[in-house]
Amino acid sequence: MASNTAQSSRTQSSQRGTATRRNRSAAQDALSLLRADHNTVLELFDKFESSRRKDQKQKIADQICMELTIHSTIEEEIFYPEIRQASDNEDADDALNEADVEHDGAKKLIAEIEASDAENEMFDAQIKVLSEYIKHHVKEEYRSIFPLARKADIDLDEMGERLQARKQELMQEQQQRH
Ligand SMILES: [Fe+2]
Ligand SMILES: [Fe+2]
Repeated sequence: MASNTAQSSRTQSSQRGTATRRNRSAAQDALSLLRADHNTVLELFDKFESSRRKDQKQKIADQICMELTIHSTIEEEIFYPEIRQASDNEDADDALNEADVEHDGAKKLIAEIEASDAENEMFDAQIKVLSEYIKHHVKEEYRSIFPLARKADIDLDEMGERLQARKQELMQEQQQRH
């Protein structure tokens, strides 16, 4: 009996611990939030590659396009301009200009995929090229943009909250559209 009580209080306290951790991760700083987005999309690309059924591929591709569209929107509206403003130097401008150009390129690929479908014999190739493009872009963000964000006088926790709020709004818009 005594050991049961001890057991249940241990369970409760470990549940509390989990809840606390969950709350903390719900309020992610800007860089963890963006990194988590990247990981979600990279996993979806893996999932696409290992799936065989066309309906499954279609669903994953739709999700990839949605995730990427929302992610690039919050970067373009909040993350990039605020880093540009806080860094205010030519190297930062160069890195951010490159990122903007890469976003434009990704948007064209996404538009082609959205106009295509899993029945199209080019569909796998389109997703493959998008995945390579995104992998390169993510690597560049870690190499040249995340360090700028860390160096700049930016409250990354507060920015994380705004990114999260905007992301939620965009997700709702997307869901209403479909
Ligand atoms: Fe980006
Ligand atoms: Fe990104």
